[in-house]
Amino acid sequence: MNTTSYKYVNFKRLKEIHSREDIFNFVLRMRLRNYESCSESERKEINSIFTTGIEILRNSLTKSEEEFDEAVQFVVSKVFKKEDPTFWFNNFTHQYRSEVKIQMEYDKIKPYLVGNKIVDIGSGSGRLAAKFAENDYEVYTADIIDYRADIAKDLPFALIDDNSKIAYGDKIADNSLVILSFHHMDNKTFESTIAELKRISNRIIVKEDVFGIPMDNKQFKEIVDLDPLLQEFCKFSLQDQFMILMLSDYVSNVFIHGRTDMSFAFEFKSIPEWRKIFNSDGLKLVDEYLVGFKRGKFSGSCHAYFVVDVI
Ligand SMILES: C[S@@+](CC[C@H](N)C(=O)[O-])C[C@H]1O[C@@H](n2cnc3c(N)ncnc32)[C@H](O)[C@@H]1O
Repeated sequence: MNTTSYKYVNFKRLKEIHSREDIFNFVLRMRLRNYESCSESERKEINSIFTTGIEILRNSLTKSEEEFDEAVQFVVSKVFKKEDPTFWFNNFTHQYRSEVKIQMEYDKIKPYLVGNKIVDIGSGSGRLAAKFAENDYEVYTADIIDYRADIAKDLPFALIDDNSKIAYGDKIADNSLVILSFHHMDNKTFESTIAELKRISNRIIVKEDVFGIPMDNKQFKEIVDLDPLLQEFCKFSLQDQFMILMLSDYVSNVFIHGRTDMSFAFEFKSIPEWRKIFNSDGLKLVDEYLVGFKRGKFSGSCHAYFVVDVI
């Protein structure tokens, strides 16, 4: 993988918003709100690391690509201290990601499943897949990078190649899970991956960072009505909502998770765009659910689930 080119793409895209104080401010407030259930002293430190990290990131966007790169490395190692396993924030996020988040994801996805076989595409640490396996599902995993946690190492794993081919047989699974992975794929990769998902499964369950929330769905309206931050998000232009998701995704993956080696295609789509894709070419959208910026969810962006049948 050519990590330098990924960094360049990230720099070029983020540069577009360096003058947008409102966008940086919104992302900072959104990120800090995730931690409102922490103790006062923890919140103070969280406030300090996010404010410092985001400010350094923003300032570095007016400089050269090399300086941007150095600034990001500084934030990752010195501010978020990703290499220090004793830093309490790392323990805190690790515990959340490996326990609380997995249980919440499992509970949310389970009712959408048809049948017992699952293939998790963009399975990452594999912890969600392992949770399903523990609960007697037959589970397969696949990703373009292999960074499986020990708990997932015994599950079948397919390393996805540059042509997006997934080395599993036709209809190997009833369900494909694509949890926060589609926005990492450029158009060509996305199309080939959709073709592969249709080949290997009957139902595709997607979780994505979304914008452009239409008020034609009663459940969406209820979630928006309950959350002033989501109402504020909806008032930004579609382009700005996209930029907010982009900055938030970068902060989450790079600063919080230390994933500096990941491809950031930032291919977020609006809900109407997802609906169009999921109701064409042999796909049918059978359910959708808006999570929004869920409180107390430390990795939260504006999320939604889509349940899509292969017809
Ligand atoms: C934000 S992480 C989500 C990981 C996991 N699904 C979760 O929810 O914790 C995005 C994942 O998508 C993977 N990914 C990126 N491009 C991909 C592609 N073309 N095909 C499959 N996975 C991909 C990344 O390697 C990464 O593991």
